[in-house]
Amino acid sequence: MKTLLEMLSDEVSRAFTAAGYDEKYGKVSISNRPDLCEYQCNGALSAAKEYKKAPIQIANDVAGALTDTAVFAEVTAVAPGFLNIRLTEKFLTDYLNDMRGADAFGVEKAEEPMTILVDYGGPNVAKPLHVGHLRSAIIGESVKRIGRFMGHNMIGDIHLGDWGLQIGLIITELLARRPELPYFDENFEGEYPSEAPFTISELEEIYPMASAKSKEDAAYKEAAMQATLRLQSGDRGYRAVWKHIMEVSVADLKKNYANLNVSFELWKGEADAQPYILPMIEQMKKDGFVYESEGALVVDVKEDSDAKEMPPCMILKSDGASLYTTTDLATLVQREQDYHPDMIAYVVDKRQEMHFEQVFRCARKTGIVRDETALKFIGFGTMNGKDGKPFKTREGGVMRLEALIADINEEMYNKMKENRTEISEEKARETSKIVGLAAIKYGDLSNQATKDYVFDMDRFTSFEGDTGPYILYTIVRIKSILAKYTELDGSLSSMTIRDASNGLEKDLRMELAKFNAVMANAFEELAPHKICAYIYDLANVFNRFYHETKIISEENKEKQAGWIALLIMTRDILETCIDVLGFKAPERM
Ligand code: ARG
Repeated sequence: MKTLLEMLSDEVSRAFTAAGYDEKYGKVSISNRPDLCEYQCNGALSAAKEYKKAPIQIANDVAGALTDTAVFAEVTAVAPGFLNIRLTEKFLTDYLNDMRGADAFGVEKAEEPMTILVDYGGPNVAKPLHVGHLRSAIIGESVKRIGRFMGHNMIGDIHLGDWGLQIGLIITELLARRPELPYFDENFEGEYPSEAPFTISELEEIYPMASAKSKEDAAYKEAAMQATLRLQSGDRGYRAVWKHIMEVSVADLKKNYANLNVSFELWKGEADAQPYILPMIEQMKKDGFVYESEGALVVDVKEDSDAKEMPPCMILKSDGASLYTTTDLATLVQREQDYHPDMIAYVVDKRQEMHFEQVFRCARKTGIVRDETALKFIGFGTMNGKDGKPFKTREGGVMRLEALIADINEEMYNKMKENRTEISEEKARETSKIVGLAAIKYGDLSNQATKDYVFDMDRFTSFEGDTGPYILYTIVRIKSILAKYTELDGSLSSMTIRDASNGLEKDLRMELAKFNAVMANAFEELAPHKICAYIYDLANVFNRFYHETKIISEENKEKQAGWIALLIMTRDILETCIDVLGFKAPERM
């Protein structure tokens, strides 16, 4: 289905042509003077230059050609050359009913679906998830769902940090604690135990301790680096320890991401890219892209138009070790080979922008990425505390994700208990989890991703204002009216929306009609915050309508049924939107 604005623009473009002007001037937008009209077209102002006529004259000509009374209730040309437009009630009623009858409310799905790989999450195995990983997970999941809603083939890849120094640190500490393990016996030729020699809690204790030690003890750090190198050169015993670390961490990560309602199609990591590194470098050498600079191997990625310094992209360090860039380039080799993506989008902290700029340029220049593959960097800002500094625990440490979620759930639980004393313990816990997740996700997604934002527990968990709980509260309110209606009057099926009977109802109708344009735009800009802004507006107009309208006690049954249809549509659109944002609403709260 076309969006409402597309349909109106078609009409007005035809009128421009009929009046002897170019159709390109017929673009219609939502009125920025809702007190004067619903929609407007400013094309006559631009056309005036081309036709050397007064804009108002052109606007008058076009208004004269807009005679379809089934569509337009009113078209007025006003100085200096605007066209103010009002639609007939019936036109919008039909449009809304068509939306309701269509698949996905008439959103035009991609005719040629793209394959889009979204690289998000990016946790480092054996290190606990912290709030820095939260933003990537929340934004990435939503981008993926928006793309999927628009009909594209979306692949989420967690891209684990599973190949760095943290593994060497764990091996070093494990060796110090339990030298008798067969992994450390060079003469051991048997099969290694299938069970890991540690649990996730042990692993989470080992890593920070080893990391702290390596900062004070240079020899310990050296040992950890050696261990990393030995693992990377394929040592059998170290490889076996690495596998254990992977199993134990991945199981834990899966649980944590599931709690966030986040899931990945691919659980690949930096380690998977390693086999592609040598052939990639060989090819770069053959094609003459790499050269040696102070012992390191680099590729120039400067461009004439660069406003700021763009250092060469380093491929190998002088000691022959590979880097973060190397792994990301090799991962691109693999992704091109396995998925032929039309786009790869990275949802990563914006402080890594330079890294990705270098990787993207190098990948294009060396032909690792085909011209047809778009590379997008969705950089996000920092989540700060109320003091404006990166979010920390009360003690000043890095906030673990689990702790943050537990805190917010507790806060929601207390509110729930206050509001509804009769609620059972179990139900209160369950509901506070659902609402807590909405509070966190909406609090994050409602900001433009690139911006820093303040994690404000009081604000995020509030039932009023631009918050997740407010959106859920609105949905739950609609559900309860519908339940009451069903109880009194029976079925909700075969309802149709009817012409509006008051201004607030008109506002609600116009807001609902925007849905498919909002979704398409959120996808185009890979911007979940556009959906948040929309549902906040929608919830507001709905609540205003609700406060002024006695729905359940309405005696005119036809009118009432029309409202019920409008309510059903509002609920369904809100729920569709929060689903692509990655959370859901409870039945009651
Ligand atoms: N593991 C990295 C970190 O914690 C994020 C990985 C982002 N993705 C990528 N392809 N580099 O900073």
